[in-house]
Amino acid sequence: MSSTKERLAALLEQRYGAAQPKPENIIWTPQVDAMLSHKSVRTFLPDALPEGALETMVAAAQSASNSSGLHQWSVVAVTDKALKQTLADTVARTVPTDRIPYLEEAPVLLLWVADLSRGAEITREKGAEPVVFDYLDSFLMASVDASLAAQNAAIAAESMGLGIVYMGLMRNAAREVAELINLPPHSFAVFGMVVGKPDSTRASSIRPRPAQPVVLHYNQYDRGRYRDYLDGFEEAFLDFRTTQNMKPRTWQEAVCESATSMDYMGGREHLRETVQQRGFKLK
Ligand SMILES: Cc1cc2nc3c(=O)[nH]c(=O)nc-3n(C[C@H](O)[C@H](O)[C@H](O)COP(=O)(O)O)c2cc1C
Repeated sequence: MSSTKERLAALLEQRYGAAQPKPENIIWTPQVDAMLSHKSVRTFLPDALPEGALETMVAAAQSASNSSGLHQWSVVAVTDKALKQTLADTVARTVPTDRIPYLEEAPVLLLWVADLSRGAEITREKGAEPVVFDYLDSFLMASVDASLAAQNAAIAAESMGLGIVYMGLMRNAAREVAELINLPPHSFAVFGMVVGKPDSTRASSIRPRPAQPVVLHYNQYDRGRYRDYLDGFEEAFLDFRTTQNMKPRTWQEAVCESATSMDYMGGREHLRETVQQRGFKLK
């Protein structure tokens, strides 16, 4: 077994790639090891999750901080194969491919919900109107809390040897998804998360990130600094794509495409109407 130092060096090499500067003062803990080892999994075995895995993930999710202790999120675990297939087919209609294989393969889809519905009911039962929920901040608060909960659940899942991939694609068909899982007013599925046992025969690699100065600023935002690190990141990005047999393109091309292509939006350009129909006024 390699020493901690060797393992750290190997993980940093994968996380940042050969050409980029790496932090040299990482404080190693088992949790840091787990988080630096993260990679999305898109190839799953059909096996059910181990007994207790879902409940463990939800306990981890509930242990995340949440805004004002209001518990404004929920998670819908889709374990029914037929429902999961319907969701997969619904979302697949919004993208150029006609199937979402990782969603079909994995045993569970978790839909993470920004959920003001309980708060609205509790408030109305007290004879008051939840006027604060009409504001954008309430929607953001619930969405942030759902995201923090989901990420804790992801880390818990990975610590149990499971794999996850988030599915923002679920928002492409936000209205249909909400109907299919019977979401009440004042709730909205922010994203999905596919969970299952990774198929190690079709494993992916750790995906590189830009060097730390691209994202880490001290005291004042340093606007132009990221430019000094673009070449190194492009090299790591290309190396990753080559090892994954993905067609070569630069990260900056990917950024530009995501910022300009309405195909990339895949239906999410109508999200504001859907969210408002679900009861969030977004004032
Ligand atoms: C909110 C969110 C939504 C995502 N949606 C999708 C998705 O719909 N389909 C997909 O294949 N990956 C999706 N991803 C995974 C990202 O593509 C992935 O995390 C990113 O490329 C970094 O790779 P890594 O997770 O392997 O480090 C999503 C990630 C996040 C955080």
